[in-house]
Amino acid sequence: MSPAADDSRFLKACRREPTDVTPVWFMRQAGRYLAEYRARRQKHSLLELCHRPELAAEVTLQPVERLGVDAAILFADILLPFEPLGLGLTFAASDGPQITRPIRDAAQVLELPPVDPAQDLGYVIEAVRLAARALPQHIPLIGFAGAPFTLASYAIEGGSTRSFVLTKRFMYGEPRAWHALMERLAELVGRYLAAQAGAGARALQLFDSWVGCLSPADYAAYVFPHSQRALALARRAGVPVIHFGTGTATFLADFARAGGDVIGVDWRIPLDIAWEQLGPGRAIQGNLDPVALLAPRPLLEAGVRDVLARGGGRPGHIFNLGHGVLPETPVDALRRVVEIAHGG
Ligand code: CP3
Repeated sequence: MSPAADDSRFLKACRREPTDVTPVWFMRQAGRYLAEYRARRQKHSLLELCHRPELAAEVTLQPVERLGVDAAILFADILLPFEPLGLGLTFAASDGPQITRPIRDAAQVLELPPVDPAQDLGYVIEAVRLAARALPQHIPLIGFAGAPFTLASYAIEGGSTRSFVLTKRFMYGEPRAWHALMERLAELVGRYLAAQAGAGARALQLFDSWVGCLSPADYAAYVFPHSQRALALARRAGVPVIHFGTGTATFLADFARAGGDVIGVDWRIPLDIAWEQLGPGRAIQGNLDPVALLAPRPLLEAGVRDVLARGGGRPGHIFNLGHGVLPETPVDALRRVVEIAHGG
């Protein structure tokens, strides 16, 4: 990595070095709220956009100029590893992901085929290469993967869920198979993340989007060692790692102990209180409620300024939402958030 590349506002904040203004990017910044993304989606399915590196790279770049953000996130999906794992993945028009052969018993875990992410998800690695090459030096590309728990929940439920009943029943009822599955997923995503860094991703984010459905004790017993393993493997690539989860307020210290140079938090905990729990050795990312972008403008602006005030301009705050951009979000609301984070 060239020193100039390393000097971006976003990477400095990941390393808790001072920056001129607070860096900002948005989870799900490439997506349906953007007209140019919807135009692409009219011609290609979501999976097609992911499978074709030149399209994935193009969509990755779309929000960068439109919003003025300080980082790009690769266009892909956390569920793509389910294809080489033989679980079958489709996206229904309105109900989100569907896994055609979900994991429902212990035997299925042992039958999962070996996966080499660099090879079997080679199209993602190629998209990283193309997007990293096309981006300006001062805009690092963030690679990502789903965390073992969030992936396991989709693999077991077969799609999205509110209750996580099947996931937890498997976890409690088949603890050996559960840990075997989590070990497989941790190795896979750890190596997948490292391969993305090898292809030009300058930071990596592990998405544990649904881990907040667990009690603190269950997080420690059933998830912690596997997230720790995935993050340790990713860390070997030598780029900053962001560990993101929602609903983690009640076990934030443990969540952070699993790893991550930067901890991503949602809006259910004030940013300053979260940072106090993390201690001075971590950078923090977040944490505006995505729905604030749909609120009247004065409320949105007050919300952004409140998050920034709680960050206090201390080195190591990366402004983001507490979860992904919603499809109904107006582009100019996002642009205004970037302006305010940048001192406007
Ligand atoms: O801009 C970016 O953030 C990069 C692209 C990205 C996508 N998915 C593309 C996508 C990223 C980082 C993801 C991660 C992802 N995918 C997560 C973790 C982050 C989170 O939001 O918690 C999860 C849980 C998934 C699984 C997934 N993919 C779901 C539940 C859905 C359907 C829900 C929805 O928003 O429609 C998807 C589909 C998906 N992945 C879309 C995009 C842009 C929207 C669907 C479309 O374009 O048709």
